[in-house]
Amino acid sequence: MNEKMIALASDHGGYALKEAIRGLLLNEGYQVEDLGPHGTESVDYPDYGARLAALVSQGEVLWGILACGTGIGMSIVANKFPNVRGALCHDLYTATMSRQHNDANILILGGRVLEEKVALEIVRTWLITPFEGDRHNRRLAKIKALEENLFSLRESRRS
Ligand code: RB5
Repeated sequence: MNEKMIALASDHGGYALKEAIRGLLLNEGYQVEDLGPHGTESVDYPDYGARLAALVSQGEVLWGILACGTGIGMSIVANKFPNVRGALCHDLYTATMSRQHNDANILILGGRVLEEKVALEIVRTWLITPFEGDRHNRRLAKIKALEENLFSLRESRRS
């Protein structure tokens, strides 16, 4: 798995920030899979958020970064996908905690609520902060169990 590959996506509300993040990542030696949009037209965040979250969910990329106006819509979408731990972060503290405690694999940012400089600092911090493991593994295992229980509940309702 390529640790240096980061998937990126946004809607129009996060587009400018996505572009800035792409520049930062390329400058810092990361590879970027930009899932769009590729212009400022108005688009629907579930379409782009789902595209990225599906890649992370299926293990095709390890890390993703999503941006919309507030980050809220992308957050709701991303966390529908199994194996996704999407974290809506507003500052360096939430970014650090989302890695150390939650092992977040998708960082979610609000393009209309964060200054670009702060957002880029959050991205830098998030990407270099390791998961602490230990007691947090137990909690993540409980989240995984919830996902599996919800899945089997859905399956049993179908049959
Ligand atoms: C788009 O206007 C806006 O609703 C979207 O970017 C996001 O903030 C949704 O949560």
